[in-house]
Amino acid sequence: MSVAHHSSADVSILTDLFQPYRMGSLTLANRLAMAPLTRSRALPGDVPGPLSVTCYAQCASAGLIISEASQISPQGKGYIQTPGIYSAEQVAGWKRVTDAVHARCGKIVIQLWHVGRISHPDLQEGGDQHGYTDYPFLDTAA
Ligand SMILES: Cc1cc2nc3c(=O)[nH]c(=O)nc-3n(C[C@H](O)[C@H](O)[C@H](O)COP(=O)(O)O)c2cc1C
Repeated sequence: MSVAHHSSADVSILTDLFQPYRMGSLTLANRLAMAPLTRSRALPGDVPGPLSVTCYAQCASAGLIISEASQISPQGKGYIQTPGIYSAEQVAGWKRVTDAVHARCGKIVIQLWHVGRISHPDLQEGGDQHGYTDYPFLDTAA
């Protein structure tokens, strides 16, 4: 499969999607990337589990996998069962994922997030409301 690119000089160049691509320090096997996709399948403690290992390993033939968004702290969580990467258990879970991807010669980067005030007290330890309900996300005042 080929994709036509047009340079500013309007020269048409055919680029093969399945040729390697150098992206900074990474050499990707091809030019296909998997977009980040939240799955809500993390185990208790927001740990990536066996389902994540299987899922990411199945996608390892992409040139680059961008992981689902993963919170950098408990406060950064905004949706149910999203993985984190701030505890030792979570890091170990991600290591099982990256090992499986690397075993299939895939490349994977993580998307980090802190969702800020779109979170909800139900997702916060102890129902902490700090920063979430003090100010409405949308100003509904007439
Ligand atoms: C179920 C689902 C989960 C998603 N999770 C994320 C995510 O964690 N991070 C992100 O940046 N985008 C996320 N997205 C957006 C996708 O990456 C986006 O839909 C994809 O890049 C295709 O772009 P498009 O929807 O504009 O065509 C998600 C989309 C869907 C449908």
